[in-house]
Amino acid sequence: MEIPIKTSLEIEAMRKGGRILGNLLKRLRENAKPGTTTLDLDSLALKICEEENVKPAFLGYKGYPAVICSSINDEVVHAIPTTKELKSGDLLSIDCGIVLDGMITDAAISLVVEGEKNAEAENLIKTTAKALASGISQIRPGNKTGDIGFAIQEVVHKAGYHIIRELTGHGVGKRLHEPPIINNYGKRGEGFTLKPGMTLAIEPIIAIGGRFIKTLSDNWTIVTRDHSLAAQIEHTVLVTAQGNEILTSSS
Ligand code: MF3
Ligand code: CO
Repeated sequence: MEIPIKTSLEIEAMRKGGRILGNLLKRLRENAKPGTTTLDLDSLALKICEEENVKPAFLGYKGYPAVICSSINDEVVHAIPTTKELKSGDLLSIDCGIVLDGMITDAAISLVVEGEKNAEAENLIKTTAKALASGISQIRPGNKTGDIGFAIQEVVHKAGYHIIRELTGHGVGKRLHEPPIINNYGKRGEGFTLKPGMTLAIEPIIAIGGRFIKTLSDNWTIVTRDHSLAAQIEHTVLVTAQGNEILTSSS
């Protein structure tokens, strides 16, 4: 299994695309208000892609019918946007990928729709963000994918939450899913060795209740079996000579 190493031109495209994606997700966050539908957010995402001259990466991927995945409450990932209105206090995860000059970046945010307080959801999101940051802090040449998984797992388990083991991070670049698989759990020193020029989508996906999931009859939406809340936060990260660079931040 070859892990692609990106050229400097490819990295430049992903840097540019990643910034556009970070800002796109920031705008979606600002627009995720009570009464907004996830289809409204999908249309906004498409409009931003058109303005920025980038292509949506998910639309048409294995037949996926939308620009974003918009997963609410017990929906874990890959929920297709609908005309249902968001309610204050909902936990919403938005995942999006874009293509610029043939290179893909992939990122996701989780948020609580404003209005009602939802302390449980907020704590879950805070833990997911902390787990992501801890995983990314392990990204440097010579470290292993298991070091990333171990760091994520420590944060999640300390908080008493559960890792959805079937859903993993991955390499990303010319294709949406490239090797290596990056589990959100693992052992230090195990797995694949990180090298400069690799680009990795790191995405802890965690739930408050059990870690078991099922896929709904639309063949996309994945929900928690016990209907507990789930969150996902994702960045595309470049392995650099010194450590790492997050490519999908907003500016
Ligand atoms: N970011 C998602 C992942 O890594 C990609 C979803 S592709 C879609 O699994 F087609 F489901 F949108
Ligand atoms: Co991904």
